[in-house]
Amino acid sequence: MENRRPLIAGNWKMFKTCPEAVETARQLVKLIADNTAVDVMIAPPFTSLMPVSDVVKGSCVALGAQNLFWEPEGAYTGEISSAMLVSGGCSYVIIGHSERRQYFGETDITVNKKIKAAIKDNLIPVVCVGESEKERESNDTFSVLDKQVAKGLENLALSDLETLIIAYEPVWAIGTGKTATSKQAQEIHQYLRSLIEKNFGNNLANSVRILYGGSVKPDNIKELMLMPDVDGALVGGASLNAETFSKIVNFQI
Ligand code: PGA
Repeated sequence: MENRRPLIAGNWKMFKTCPEAVETARQLVKLIADNTAVDVMIAPPFTSLMPVSDVVKGSCVALGAQNLFWEPEGAYTGEISSAMLVSGGCSYVIIGHSERRQYFGETDITVNKKIKAAIKDNLIPVVCVGESEKERESNDTFSVLDKQVAKGLENLALSDLETLIIAYEPVWAIGTGKTATSKQAQEIHQYLRSLIEKNFGNNLANSVRILYGGSVKPDNIKELMLMPDVDGALVGGASLNAETFSKIVNFQI
């Protein structure tokens, strides 16, 4: 069994102006100053990346973006490249979040392009997968995940995927207060790990970190983290408040 270091990641979505983001980051850095047990990442909106990167410098908090565009530069109004994210202080990028799939036309093909662009610039990709409520009810969960993983990771070499992080986010659990039970999460995480093993071999399957996302809160993180294949969490709503998020980061205490 590999020793996978847990990652607790906060996805701030479209919340917080610059001053608000800076203030939350400041509080968080202070509240988790003693943390050495887990990796921590926060993903504020693009406009706050640079000021927040100044705040988290030298702390245990790393910076991530919520999206990127796959071209290195060009006439793509409104888009942001991987190099721009790196220069803004990011080391991680979230790719294929279900809200992007649902509202902004993200597909497995664009996810694949974005993963390639991120890796090229040494950004750690946090690739989101997960089924909708309808898909779960019609017993399509596994086939949805099969497709998202196969297409999303198509034509990627094993050496490209050393830093890959997968986030399992059942769409029905995002922002709804309905968390998957730890047993449901474990079942899917184990399945995702087996898919990685089938496609990329045992070593990557053992080392790849698989986060759970969907209504993670201070009072359910411990139980989720007890599961052998849950390596961390991607937290939305509960990451917006520094104190609440710090309790999730410090779940072992
Ligand atoms: P939630 O969001 O924690 O608010 O459910 C999770 C996510 O969308 O990453």
